[in-house]
Amino acid sequence: MPRADARQQLAEILAAQCRFDERLRCLDGREPFDEPFGVETNGPVEPWELADATDEMLDHSSRYSPTPVRTVRKVLESCPTAAQDVSFVDFGCGKGRALLIASEYPYRAVIGVEISAQLAAVARENIARFRSPAQQCRRLEVHHQDAARYEIPADAGVCYFYEPFSPTVAGRIVDNIEESIRRHPRPVVLCFVGRGLPARDDGDGGTSRTGAAVRGRPMWSAGPMVESPDDPYYDAWLFVSDPEGRLG
Ligand SMILES: C[S@@+](CC[C@H](N)C(=O)[O-])C[C@H]1O[C@@H](n2cnc3c(N)ncnc32)[C@H](O)[C@@H]1O
Repeated sequence: MPRADARQQLAEILAAQCRFDERLRCLDGREPFDEPFGVETNGPVEPWELADATDEMLDHSSRYSPTPVRTVRKVLESCPTAAQDVSFVDFGCGKGRALLIASEYPYRAVIGVEISAQLAAVARENIARFRSPAQQCRRLEVHHQDAARYEIPADAGVCYFYEPFSPTVAGRIVDNIEESIRRHPRPVVLCFVGRGLPARDDGDGGTSRTGAAVRGRPMWSAGPMVESPDDPYYDAWLFVSDPEGRLG
């Protein structure tokens, strides 16, 4: 690509990112979360701003940006599994906002996996500081680890992905989840939130939508598409595996 075109493209990406962040600030203003609960989940963080960023992270990891609060609640309430029967896992939990919101539901455990030590530390601090009368689950864990290497707990039933990484990485995690279901048959819901930033091209036809990782896999049935109450960008796609028909 000629240099001027590349420069123009970069300028457009940066402008789109600024508009995106401004929109998120507005959404966060409508449903304040950080101040009332004494936490810090809102500021975006680029992979290259992380002191512990590796080449692998720069190639495959998305920036940190939280899911808007109302979208997380709507996605969790759209899952057909009973929260008290399963654990919730956020693959790429960042500063832990989705974990804190998930703890308002009676999950057995709420687990975050985060590749950046810096962000995992912020998530742990947020968990320690979080004070909400709505909190029902007190077993919250954050694992500093590449989510592709994380051993899936035998009771993981809601697996949450908000555009954390490329479909290549997501594919490895879905392999691990399928293996876990074969060893411990149970219903599992995959929640893929977000449409992906159009500028990323990781070999999947120009889209970075993580949900491409389940395409063509017979174990999964498409569940409801969840319209975000915040912005269509945050619409979510659910996929359900129910090997023993327990969800009726
Ligand atoms: C868009 S943020 C989502 C944050 C959080 N799930 C939420 O919804 O508020 C994506 C996060 O995934 C993390 N991430 C990227 N690649 C990862 C990997 N391979 N393993 C674990 N975390 C990863 C990033 O560092 C970032 O914090």
